[in-house]
Amino acid sequence: MALAPGGRWVRAYERDTLPEVGAGQLPLRLRERGVYLITGGLGGIGMTLADYLVRTCRARLVLTGLDAVPPTGLGAAVPDGDPGLAERAERIRKLEALGGEVLAVRCDAADRERMAALFEEIDRRFGRLDGVVHAAGVFETRRAFRSLAETGREDCERRLRPKVRGTLMLAEFLRGRRLDFVLMQSSLSSHLGGLGFYAYTAGNAYMDAFAERHRGDDIPWMTVNWDGWIFRERDDDTPHASVVSPSFASPDFGVVAEIAIRPSEGAEIYGRLMNLATPHQVLVSTADFDARIDQWVRGAQPGPAAGPAPEPAGAAWADPVAAQVARAWTDLLGAEELHPDSNFFALGGDSLLGVSLAHRLSQEFDTVLSAITLFENPTITQMAKEITRATAQDQDHQGEA
Ligand SMILES: NC(=O)c1ccc[n+]([C@@H]2O[C@H](COP(=O)([O-])OP(=O)(O)OC[C@H]3O[C@@H](n4cnc5c(N)ncnc54)[C@H](OP(=O)(O)O)[C@@H]3O)[C@@H](O)[C@H]2O)c1
Repeated sequence: MALAPGGRWVRAYERDTLPEVGAGQLPLRLRERGVYLITGGLGGIGMTLADYLVRTCRARLVLTGLDAVPPTGLGAAVPDGDPGLAERAERIRKLEALGGEVLAVRCDAADRERMAALFEEIDRRFGRLDGVVHAAGVFETRRAFRSLAETGREDCERRLRPKVRGTLMLAEFLRGRRLDFVLMQSSLSSHLGGLGFYAYTAGNAYMDAFAERHRGDDIPWMTVNWDGWIFRERDDDTPHASVVSPSFASPDFGVVAEIAIRPSEGAEIYGRLMNLATPHQVLVSTADFDARIDQWVRGAQPGPAAGPAPEPAGAAWADPVAAQVARAWTDLLGAEELHPDSNFFALGGDSLLGVSLAHRLSQEFDTVLSAITLFENPTITQMAKEITRATAQDQDHQGEA
């Protein structure tokens, strides 16, 4: 925060380089055979950081999850019949083969009783705790995108629970402990607005505010606001988790893959975060952050000049619905050469424009279209088909009434 003229506190950002970790050196905040708790540690980021910690300092790890938690320990059987669980068990086995020690525990970070039992277990087994990564979170790519009107209580509870109550539980059970770091895994969405991901974004904003409020306490609260990750190293690797994040404006895979954080990059950044002498909040943006703030926060939208949209060229529209969709695209995207297979995202469409498009087409066709439906049908032909289906369904319902 910075003090603006008139005595108001405003958000301010400073571009900086995180301190490099010298070859063969341990980052300042890590110790050999340190004991680290990673809430949500069996997810994509949790597992990446677990791998880094084991390779860097032969860490002893406590990894928690909500549902899919394989048994660990000597002689633990690899689960049969559940590929997700088996994959996690295999990854834990690899961490142990690298010299790490892993305790995996099913524990809702927001549940006081389970958290109390977890900390008892950590003390009993390791007799110490050196650092915490709070990575518990619920995003769910497909189901996450909702307009404000579509964002219901259940949505909010599921997504806020690990981030809000989970943070409060950590604060309660960490009180009085001497720790080297508590690193909250937040998202750029809490700075760029997270349009369409309101509950998720609110949870991240809560964690940001909590850490900021408590910075300077005995517990070294740190925050990293990640850009979107992709959980594979190269484009021909098989992904093992979600690839789309609200930190991105567009969920188009080709765009995302190019600018997403790869596991090796995330691990390198994490090492540098652990090398920070003073705990503070770090935002990691893979694209020009000032331009993103301009676009998403200050509202400087790139767009076509004002005035009536020219008739879209490039195709003779046999279908009047497709012609109307094309006109809306020309208005919103400034795209003139449109074809039935033109792709909304390839032409610069993003979630903000998707919401505007859904609103406009809903009004023009007198139906209800959600932005996520349009994301799932990104070409003109597909959108027109979806609109025709929705309007026919409306008419059927009216007929039944
Ligand atoms: N991936 C990204 O692009 C990105 C970008 C910015 C920020 N982040 C943040 O970074 C964190 C980790 O992301 P990720 O990509 O690794 O997500 P992920 O793969 O979905 O992993 C999240 C983990 O959290 C666990 N979890 C959910 N609710 C929990 C609860 N109440 N208590 C304990 N564990 C809980 C899940 O357990 P189960 O699997 O057992 O259900 C899962 O293992 C999240 O907080 C996310 O918001 C991610």
